Amino acid sequence: MLTDDYPRVELSHSPTPLECLNNLSQKLGGPKIWVKRDDCTGLAMGGNKVRQLEYYIGDAVAKGADTILTTGAIQSNQVRLTIAAARKLGLGVEVQLEERVAGRPKEYYESGNPFLMNLMGAKIHHYPVGEDEEGADRALYGYADELSKAGKTPYVIPLAANHTPYGSLGYVQCAEELLEQFKQQGLEIDGIIVPTGSATTHAGLLAGLRALNSKIPIYGFCVRRDQESQAVRVLAKAEKVAEMIGHAGVVSQDDIWTNDRMLQPGYGKFNEEVQQAILLSASCDGLLLDPVYTGKAMAGLIHLVESGHFKPGQNIVFLHTGGTPALFGYPELIA
Ligand SMILES: Cc1ncc(COP(=O)(O)O)c(C=O)c1O
Repeated sequence: MLTDDYPRVELSHSPTPLECLNNLSQKLGGPKIWVKRDDCTGLAMGGNKVRQLEYYIGDAVAKGADTILTTGAIQSNQVRLTIAAARKLGLGVEVQLEERVAGRPKEYYESGNPFLMNLMGAKIHHYPVGEDEEGADRALYGYADELSKAGKTPYVIPLAANHTPYGSLGYVQCAEELLEQFKQQGLEIDGIIVPTGSATTHAGLLAGLRALNSKIPIYGFCVRRDQESQAVRVLAKAEKVAEMIGHAGVVSQDDIWTNDRMLQPGYGKFNEEVQQAILLSASCDGLLLDPVYTGKAMAGLIHLVESGHFKPGQNIVFLHTGGTPALFGYPELIA
């Protein structure tokens, strides 16, 4: 495997299934739509963060850490799954929750991810701002300093882009898994659609595919920032990951495709197209998507199909990155 040189802890159920969304494909009348079920990675309701945590916590354990720290939104899947991973591995855990989305009802603060965080238990800090990645990381390193002074060995999984993206190695591994599944099922794939936020998933998948000589395009639908800033972030991270796995130079600017149409009106908020995509996926195939990440990527996929970018006879893959617990923080989706 391309990632063999890096320490990993086992947390995920993999390979995750690759299934055809027959009803949605038929309804849209375009390409055959497949779904890679990374919402089924197993740990504490699953999601893409489980694969990423295998390598972050692998690094943490190799460095002798006994306490993991991370930061995210109130409905953060990253925070939920970091707590779960720490609990499973018998490590301490401190998390920070940021106020990223204004004007949410009480369910946003109490149901879904925050409910599960409290169920599993962790020391929870609060950060009053939502658009300050460096500031949120600084606060986290401050808590880590306090832990060090108390004799602990903390390990921070930061938010900002300036750290070694160990988590992307989980998606290098997913690229290997997908290519094997395409081979087994005799599939020629014309595109993979992903939500792109920290870009850890997008960058890992891209670097992994190109390192394995696959030219399949990846379509990243932005969930956090505009498409120009996101493209810069994805390229920088993918180049770094390619270097980490001994394939420096396999990723270029031409590989980067980002679109922010579905980001509107902003992080953690949804528009009409996203709501329709969530309702359509649920009613067609019983596929549950969330309004923060996967609903946006599916709305993007539907837009690409309806605008004729993909044609009947082609095959496309939707990477389901999880996040479904957040549905319970958005009761207005079916209001
Ligand atoms: C469910 C879900 N999907 C997608 C993403 C975006 O993935 P990444 O941060 O690796 O770009 C996240 C990140 O928080 C997530 O929780």
